[in-house]
Amino acid sequence: TVLVVDFGAQYAQLIARRVREARVYSEIVPSTMPVAEMLAKRPRAIILSGGPSSVYAPGAPAIDRALFEAGVPVFGMCYGFQLMAITLGGTVDNNGRREYGRTPLAVGLTGSTLFEGTPAEQSVWMSHGDACSAAPEGFAVTASTDSVPVAAFEDDERRLYGVQYHPEVMHTTHGQQVLEHFLYRGAGIEPTWTTHNVVEEQVAAIQRQVGDKRVICGLSGGVDSAVAAALVQKAVGDQLTCVFVDHGLLRKGEAEQVEKDFVAATGVRLKVVDAQERFLTALAGRTDPEEKRKIIGREFIRVFEQAASEVVAEAGEHGEAVEFLVQGTLYPDVVESGGGTGTANIKSHHNVGGLPEDLQFQLVEPLRQLFKDEVRKVGEELGLPSEIVWRQPFPGPGLGIRIIGEVNGPRLDLLREADAIAREELTAAGLDRDIWQCPVVLLADVRSVGVQGDGRTYGHPIVLRPVSSEDAMTADWSRLPYDVLARISTRITNEVADVNRVVLDITSKPPGTIEWE
Ligand code: XMP
Repeated sequence: TVLVVDFGAQYAQLIARRVREARVYSEIVPSTMPVAEMLAKRPRAIILSGGPSSVYAPGAPAIDRALFEAGVPVFGMCYGFQLMAITLGGTVDNNGRREYGRTPLAVGLTGSTLFEGTPAEQSVWMSHGDACSAAPEGFAVTASTDSVPVAAFEDDERRLYGVQYHPEVMHTTHGQQVLEHFLYRGAGIEPTWTTHNVVEEQVAAIQRQVGDKRVICGLSGGVDSAVAAALVQKAVGDQLTCVFVDHGLLRKGEAEQVEKDFVAATGVRLKVVDAQERFLTALAGRTDPEEKRKIIGREFIRVFEQAASEVVAEAGEHGEAVEFLVQGTLYPDVVESGGGTGTANIKSHHNVGGLPEDLQFQLVEPLRQLFKDEVRKVGEELGLPSEIVWRQPFPGPGLGIRIIGEVNGPRLDLLREADAIAREELTAAGLDRDIWQCPVVLLADVRSVGVQGDGRTYGHPIVLRPVSSEDAMTADWSRLPYDVLARISTRITNEVADVNRVVLDITSKPPGTIEWE
């Protein structure tokens, strides 16, 4: 394991992912964790992340010197670099030599462990106010910039390395290479962490946990629950029953996809519950986004509980109750709920798959260690069809939070049609993997005047919200080709009754969220 010490501001997750891309397993720990506890995890290497503060700010997170004296290779980045510098006796100035954004870096030492084989001048991403002016004793300065004399240093003897910039971000041209140099050359770690190993490990772990007991899993149609279920199925086969709640807020073909594709690929036992009436009744007259979310979440849990007790009753004939519940919890959820450091700007989603604690099941969470892209790889490794593995994220509350206004049957039908057209055209244009997701939103309480044929129309607008993102925490609007947008617009206005206008949402996140509600 490589530990990534989190000094806040979301850099740590990205670093952990980059380490895993180098096929080395990594875990994030909060900077408040005592060094003894970090070392007890027997890490092969430790990375100190960037962070938002100045090392001189009152209450700025510090690190115990013992970390650098344990013989474990350490790589400090940005804030971690400065902490390393001052903790080991170097100088960090608070003299206004700030650098933000893309900066040219001059690599000044041949034979550097980190920079071996990279160009003498490279572009790196900087974001700092303080600057290191003198490296600690024993360190060689390996790079500088116009305004910062010490932009990277290393001490091969003690296996301590640091860079002032952010090697983990895309704008740093040789960032991944430098990180891999640290892992492979500096720390001597072999790149052996593969999807195949993850599957084998998880299957064994599930078998150990579940034994011969029965398990249920709520399927949402999304990739996480599908992959989690497939892993459990591989581990314990027939002991698993999946429950799929059709709340009527699904997209076109969604329920069928789960029923056909997923069952065909896994052979899993599936219980489908048609609860459309119940959800529509509960949502009648409601327009407030949070209220809608809460109603959907609550109804979902009731339906799921009922389905679960039916599964239990059915199992009862064989004398066994269901003891385990599968959840598709991902690593970012784990970090966000237990990490302890400030990630305040993340909106927490009440996942409709989430269940109350009094359900009395033990949880099986085989994806707890994985990021979304890794989950997809596991799905492929398990042989799930690409329609499932590469599905774009779809929120638990479904179309219920994509109808701005009251949710009802006719509006859902209308939105389902428009959404199906948009998805069809994006798929036909080969854009599915370029965009993160493309919510299609119905402004149900807005009308505008149009003209179609010879007549006046007074219809609703449909909003296209294509976004690109790495993890949905931030996002940019996708620059879709105009001809694709034109086809979607023409088809939606021609084929969907009551829609006479298609508009494009060109807001990034922040300030907009991805979903409209
Ligand atoms: P926002 O709208 O906050 O969404 O930018 C970020 C990502 O989360 C998805 N999303 C949800 N997923 N339950 C879910 O399972 C929810 O309640 C929920 N709300 C939003 C959204 O589609 C996007 O991918």
